[in-house]
Amino acid sequence: MRVALAERYGPPEVAAVATRPLPEPGPGELRVRVLAASVGAADGAWRSGRPWFARLAFGLRRPRNPVMGSDFAGLVDAVGPGATRFAIGDRVFGATGAAGGAHAEFVVVGENGAIARLPQGVSWSDAAALCDGAMTALPFLRDGGHVGPGMRVLVNGAAGSVGGAAVQLGRHLGAEVTGVCSTAHLEHVRALGARHVVDRTQVDPMRTGERYDVVFDAAGKSTYRRARRALVDGGVYLTTVPSWAVMLQQLTSRLGRTRAVIMFTGLRSDDAKRPDLDELAALAAAGVIRPAIDRVLPIDRIAEAYEIVDTGHKRGSVVVTPSAEAGGER
Ligand SMILES: NC(=O)c1ccc[n+]([C@@H]2O[C@H](COP(=O)([O-])OP(=O)(O)OC[C@H]3O[C@@H](n4cnc5c(N)ncnc54)[C@H](OP(=O)(O)O)[C@@H]3O)[C@@H](O)[C@H]2O)c1
Repeated sequence: MRVALAERYGPPEVAAVATRPLPEPGPGELRVRVLAASVGAADGAWRSGRPWFARLAFGLRRPRNPVMGSDFAGLVDAVGPGATRFAIGDRVFGATGAAGGAHAEFVVVGENGAIARLPQGVSWSDAAALCDGAMTALPFLRDGGHVGPGMRVLVNGAAGSVGGAAVQLGRHLGAEVTGVCSTAHLEHVRALGARHVVDRTQVDPMRTGERYDVVFDAAGKSTYRRARRALVDGGVYLTTVPSWAVMLQQLTSRLGRTRAVIMFTGLRSDDAKRPDLDELAALAAAGVIRPAIDRVLPIDRIAEAYEIVDTGHKRGSVVVTPSAEAGGER
């Protein structure tokens, strides 16, 4: 089978396509023919080895598993001994997390892993993109921000995978969402469902005079110190990007009038992720959410996919199609 891999940390060019033996599913495992896989910010950290703490997850000197990729969608192709939850031909999607291996024509996953059935009508690319953005945005908004009807939510980085999903999910949860992005993405973010948009190149989104119940820093480019000014009493600053400051502020702000929260959604248990996959699949099938997709590229163009990811300004998700026999988008 063909895979995209990086044998060492480095720029996009270290990612290459190679051939590997077809993996066999062991007891309780499934082999999935991957028809779409996202190339996201975490994959960029995997390939580059930056920031440094990424190496704690992926390998200190070089990637432990050179075949990158977590988020996949495809068809069950083989079932290991004792695996009963899925059958050959089932449409599935999910995430392998730090185990990787999804940037390949086939990936082997545990049937009790972060994997769920994919309803008809949700495309392979959309399913992979859901794992890239919404699987992060949902727990942040629901568990970190307790977002509900009537709440005011500011999403920083609203054009990205996580931020774009947060705009859609925030609206679905009943909140009034304000999206922050650069000029080129204003209309896109409005179309995702943001009630208001703020051009971050023109104004400081934390100093507009507006106050929010939740500031979700999906891009992780702001700070609690800055966001505090834009929070109501009892408001929460959520960030996707760890720093020593926010780790400390998460502790110290517990007693204050506003709180700082950092979460690591990828580290949640598979048992916690599975119901979220089901919920997001149902929302996508019902047309409530529709992930934004910047680009769909064949896996041979993996280095180009990483170049787009590395810009830090993609619009939604970048998706690669590992299987030449993808058989169309749906
Ligand atoms: N903690 C977790 O559990 C977790 C899980 C998943 C991802 N993450 C992290 O979340 C971050 C976002 O991921 P993503 O997939 O959404 O990335 P992405 O798709 O690359 O989106 C990033 C967005 O940030 C915006 N941006 C760039 N520079 C900015 C700045 N200086 N100020 C404000 N916004 C800026 C860009 O929009 P404009 O060009 O319009 O400004 C872009 O759309 C990544 O750092 C990723 O590693 C964390």
